[in-house]
Amino acid sequence: MGIQCRIPFSFLSFPFLLFVLFTIPSLHCTPTDTLTQSQSISVGQTLISSGQIFELGFFIPSNSSKQYVGIWHKNIQIQDRKVVWVANRENPLTVRATDSASSSLTIGKDGNLRLLDGMNTTVWLTNVSVHSNNSIAVLSDRGDLTVKDSVSGLILWESFNYPCDTVLPEMMLKMNTKTGEQHFMSSWLTEDDPSPGEYVCGLSLDTPTQVFIWNGSKPYWRSGPWDGSKFIGVVDIENANSDGFYIIHGNQPGSVYLIWHVYTTSYIHFMFLAPNGTLKRMFMDEQVKNPYVYWMYPANRCDIYGVCGPFGVCNKNTSPNCECLKGFVPNSIEDWKKGNWARGCVRKTDLLCQKNTSSLASSGKAQNDGFWKLRSMKLPDHYEYLYTKDSSGCQQWCLSNCSCVAYAYVTGIDCMVWTGGLMDIQQFWLAGNDLFLRLSYLELGKVNCFLP
Ligand SMILES: *[C@@H]1O[C@H](CO)[C@@H](O)[C@H](O)[C@H]1NC(C)=O
Ligand SMILES: *[C@@H]1O[C@H](CO)[C@@H](O)[C@H](O)[C@H]1NC(C)=O
Ligand SMILES: *[C@@H]1O[C@H](CO)[C@@H](O)[C@H](O)[C@H]1NC(C)=O
Ligand SMILES: *[C@@H]1O[C@H](CO)[C@@H](O)[C@H](O)[C@H]1NC(C)=O
Ligand SMILES: *[C@@H]1O[C@H](CO)[C@@H](O)[C@H](O)[C@H]1NC(C)=O
Ligand SMILES: *[C@@H]1O[C@H](CO)[C@@H](O)[C@H](O)[C@H]1NC(C)=O
Ligand SMILES: *[C@@H]1O[C@H](CO)[C@@H](O)[C@H](O)[C@H]1NC(C)=O
Ligand SMILES: *[C@@H]1O[C@H](CO)[C@@H](O)[C@H](O)[C@H]1NC(C)=O
Repeated sequence: MGIQCRIPFSFLSFPFLLFVLFTIPSLHCTPTDTLTQSQSISVGQTLISSGQIFELGFFIPSNSSKQYVGIWHKNIQIQDRKVVWVANRENPLTVRATDSASSSLTIGKDGNLRLLDGMNTTVWLTNVSVHSNNSIAVLSDRGDLTVKDSVSGLILWESFNYPCDTVLPEMMLKMNTKTGEQHFMSSWLTEDDPSPGEYVCGLSLDTPTQVFIWNGSKPYWRSGPWDGSKFIGVVDIENANSDGFYIIHGNQPGSVYLIWHVYTTSYIHFMFLAPNGTLKRMFMDEQVKNPYVYWMYPANRCDIYGVCGPFGVCNKNTSPNCECLKGFVPNSIEDWKKGNWARGCVRKTDLLCQKNTSSLASSGKAQNDGFWKLRSMKLPDHYEYLYTKDSSGCQQWCLSNCSCVAYAYVTGIDCMVWTGGLMDIQQFWLAGNDLFLRLSYLELGKVNCFLP
């Protein structure tokens, strides 16, 4: 799938990428990617990955009096650098105190990598329980800082397992549907403060899984479910046939990983969750001097989770953006007219199965419910996955369960059904999927009518 939301070049000069002022010059003499147990690095010294791609050292965000240890791309010019990982995001060093100048990153006797302030107090450590007398810390060309046993080669700890706000190619975000464990990227609080902000991004526990951005505990954006090669609710993100995302299943029961793979590894790629919750995929090749936004989500109002409320559908090309699904009317006409869409829409005509069927049957008026086909949709959230042989099995299941309000049969996923309010639906122009909405016989017109 093509890149449809390439941001114009002029975007580059925006100061939002000026996260960091590197006030302290690099003083290292012989660049090295490795820290051994007898060594430490202090303010002004850095580790540089062997291919000169990534650099690790102390930094002070602009407008800040706090000092951190982080990793950044060495080849991005200083004013455009984005720190991709921060060790002590929750325990900054204070610049005013004399300790910042004498703080150091070192490997302790127990083999852990430690950040010490001027009083030799540990402000951050890797905290691995397997003690090693031969620990070394190595910064790789992938941007991964590892602590390993130099004799056995065993990796004791790696920064890729502790993402901050940035994902680099080949990094994995993990979750486990059995244990409920989820790993997230988490935004910086502000552009000048790396401490954890309001937003997190990661895989949901749904089957099939989807990528979410959450604002605290509230969903803010979702990708739609994984169909085996792509997330079907996004039209711009690269699919797995080229550069892009893969979902793989781990060895442990229920474990699922999201991996981001790119082919052009010589270029700079990274993806980060901005302090305002926007997920930005950045790119830089030899042609451009600064990383630019390749795509971002949410990209428009309709991408914001549930903007039109239950049974509302969002279309970014219409004004107003929200409409009720066929057969539904606004919950509150007043709110709706004012553009307060959050309360969504309600059904105009009860479904047969919601009515007192014994009285209807005796009056001879019972007409079965049917389905209305909606094309090119971002399918709603809160789906249940069912195994059925084919699309008609899916439809039959839905019809025979009175709580079923819609179904979809998607290549690569099979049967999805919905039994509650239909949330976060978009009308796409192209792409998207067919959604079959259950409606009363009275609501189904003759055109596009899909009766069982
Ligand atoms: C520093 O803070 C001031 C005031 O809050 C703001 O105007 C300025 O843009 C900030 N500078 C940077 C580099 O973020
Ligand atoms: C911190 O430890 C180093 C190395 O052991 C030592 O040289 C230095 O004096 C210590 N600093 C303080 C303030 O204790
Ligand atoms: C290190 O890990 C142990 C056990 O996982 C935990 O109890 C302890 O609080 C951790 N220490 C720090 C400084 O994070
Ligand atoms: C590390 O070195 C200490 C002191 O030489 C020794 O007592 C200990 O057994 C060693 N630990 C390991 C895991 O090799
Ligand atoms: C995120 O959540 C906070 C707290 O509920 C809210 O104040 C804020 O408006 C939300 N942000 C967005 C972009 O919806
Ligand atoms: C979030 O911030 C980015 C700049 O970092 C901006 O491009 C985007 O429009 C902002 N999104 C929202 C919803 O304010
Ligand atoms: C359904 O209709 C029958 C016959 O009219 C009536 O006896 C019964 O009480 C009704 N049930 C409900 C739940 O309304
Ligand atoms: C209808 O679907 C709901 C949700 O999956 C389920 O809990 C319920 O048991 C189903 N009812 C029947 C009669 O199959």
